Amino acid sequence: MYKTHECGTLRPQHQGQTVTLAGWVHRRRDHGGVTFIDLRDHTGLVQIVASPEINPQAHAALEHVRSEWVIQVQGTVRRRPPGTENPKLPTGEVEVAVQQVQVLNPAKPLPFVVSKDDPVDESVRLKYRYLDLRRQRMQRNLRLRYRVTKLIRDFLDARGFIEVETPILFKSTPEGARDYLVPSRLHPGHFYALPQSPQQLKQLLMVAGVDKYFQIARCFRDEDQRGDRQPEFTQLDLEMAFVDRREDIMDLIEALMLHIVRQAVPHKRLLAEPFPRLTYREVMARFGTDRPDLRFGLELRDITDLVDASDFRVFKAAAQAGGLVKGLNAKGLAGYSRKQIDELTRFVGQYGAKGLAYFILPPEGGVKSPIAKFFPQGVLQRIVERLEGQPGDLLLFVADRDHEVVNESLARLRLLLGDRLGLRDPNTLAFAWVIDFPFAYWDPEEQRWDPSQHPFTMPLPEDLPYLETDPGRVRGTQYDLVLNGNEVAGGSIRIHQRELQERVFRLIGLDMDTARQQFGHMLEAFEYGAPPHGGIAVGLDRLVMLLADEPSIREVIAFPKNQAARDLMAGAPSPVTEEQLRELHIRVVLPEKEEPPAATG
Ligand code: AMO
Ligand code: AMP
Repeated sequence: MYKTHECGTLRPQHQGQTVTLAGWVHRRRDHGGVTFIDLRDHTGLVQIVASPEINPQAHAALEHVRSEWVIQVQGTVRRRPPGTENPKLPTGEVEVAVQQVQVLNPAKPLPFVVSKDDPVDESVRLKYRYLDLRRQRMQRNLRLRYRVTKLIRDFLDARGFIEVETPILFKSTPEGARDYLVPSRLHPGHFYALPQSPQQLKQLLMVAGVDKYFQIARCFRDEDQRGDRQPEFTQLDLEMAFVDRREDIMDLIEALMLHIVRQAVPHKRLLAEPFPRLTYREVMARFGTDRPDLRFGLELRDITDLVDASDFRVFKAAAQAGGLVKGLNAKGLAGYSRKQIDELTRFVGQYGAKGLAYFILPPEGGVKSPIAKFFPQGVLQRIVERLEGQPGDLLLFVADRDHEVVNESLARLRLLLGDRLGLRDPNTLAFAWVIDFPFAYWDPEEQRWDPSQHPFTMPLPEDLPYLETDPGRVRGTQYDLVLNGNEVAGGSIRIHQRELQERVFRLIGLDMDTARQQFGHMLEAFEYGAPPHGGIAVGLDRLVMLLADEPSIREVIAFPKNQAARDLMAGAPSPVTEEQLRELHIRVVLPEKEEPPAATG
């Protein structure tokens, strides 16, 4: 080995020992003929000192050394002189007086500084990811991720689960996104699909008698990228046989989450324990979204029933068209200027809101609003009361015939105001379960029912009689786990009987031929003694992102794709040779380039 000790481990107890260290030059300073270098390895930093008095050759050898060179040094651990200790470093009480130096590898000047966490353009970071990962923050994230994965494996192992690998080259397992396809050389014109999740395979493992399965599984989805989405991402995927109650899975995952939080991020505070279990209806009413951030209030209030007695056309029209009028109380923001309110109006406009009505409640009392004149005094009072308005508050409202526009725009506004008012404390973890989702949504464009999760979810038994007659009132057994406004897990009790599975396929407009083609193996398996079963998948990247206080899952993935689904380091995707295409029996037809519009006039 090139070293006897690791940099970050040296302490006063090592005083007097001769040690050999190897690592990267983190920082280098010259002080009146004495050279100080912070030497870094994966355990941290230690200061090494070279001077002509300690050893002239070693001192001379360090003269040319620059940032990020890889060096090996031999020297004696000594206490730093009083007053020069660095309390910020775990090794800050000691330094190593260098007797011997060997340069193992020099480094070109780097495209960015890795010894500091200064902001660097993300495309540069991704191109030189191996340098970016040297930074302390990224090292911390990689290690936290590993720790969480290890805690998961140990926790489930102790409860009798086994990890089973499932294929990557498989058949489409739909989760609502587009598939990534892999052409087959041996079977011209045939393709594998990369699994969007191991959903079907884990259900088949239940039929296979595995009983308690989990997998740290890679999933592939060709969908639009966002901060919390990647084309390939990792799930803790889990399934259990002989469960009939969703609580069986929810209780297990809740215990796992508590274990992870306590072990991996003990400094964080859990807002509520046990995790609240809220219905879809309730969270949509109170927060306008099915993944609410429960760390703060500013809840939405429905005033649709109150606006009929007003003369404000916008509100009345929305209410009369079966729409929704909702508001939220921006606590203490009565001082907002016209300009600031206009900015909020533009903000909600991005989500389809056609305007943002407001009541200012000045500290001296009363209601100030250009639309106040349209509301009889009693109605105004009831609206203010419903939003628990106090002098000093600002009440904001959106009306629309489309419920989704009202809910989504106010949900986004709520988060924006939560940020501005400093209510979204990263050290607080607000987990909650959302249950009783509608089983399926009516898709007006496709003119068919669309499953709100995947087509293998069991409807709530008490709603089964309405599956054909009134599908809109059927609720699913689906449960989602949300954390600080993010969906971190989702699962359900599954259908395990062929007859019910076929009824669901019929409901979602899948004819039996197509169903048999796509899912014949599932339908068949259900006829050979499939046990009742259920499961869940946790988005590992999202969970670690939130535990690490990072804004994007790219920060907790070693080699992520960028927002355009490209790997900037290796340059993927990339063209392949004619020969490779020929072998795969594939001809590429590129999209036609858009012609610039012909010049006129
Ligand atoms: P679902 O599609 O809800 O369920 O996925 C489970 C969890 O995976 C995470 N997730 C993602 N993370 C990063 N990038 C993505 N593109 C992405 N898509 C999803 C989310 C989500 O909650 N087979 C079912 C689970 C089951 O029923 O057991 C499934 O995949 O955190
Ligand atoms: P107007 O009648 O268009 O001048 O709008 C009067 C006030 O109502 C303005 O503050 C608008 O932003 C607001 N407003 C307009 N349409 C809506 C709507 N759909 N929901 C909420 N407020 C609206």
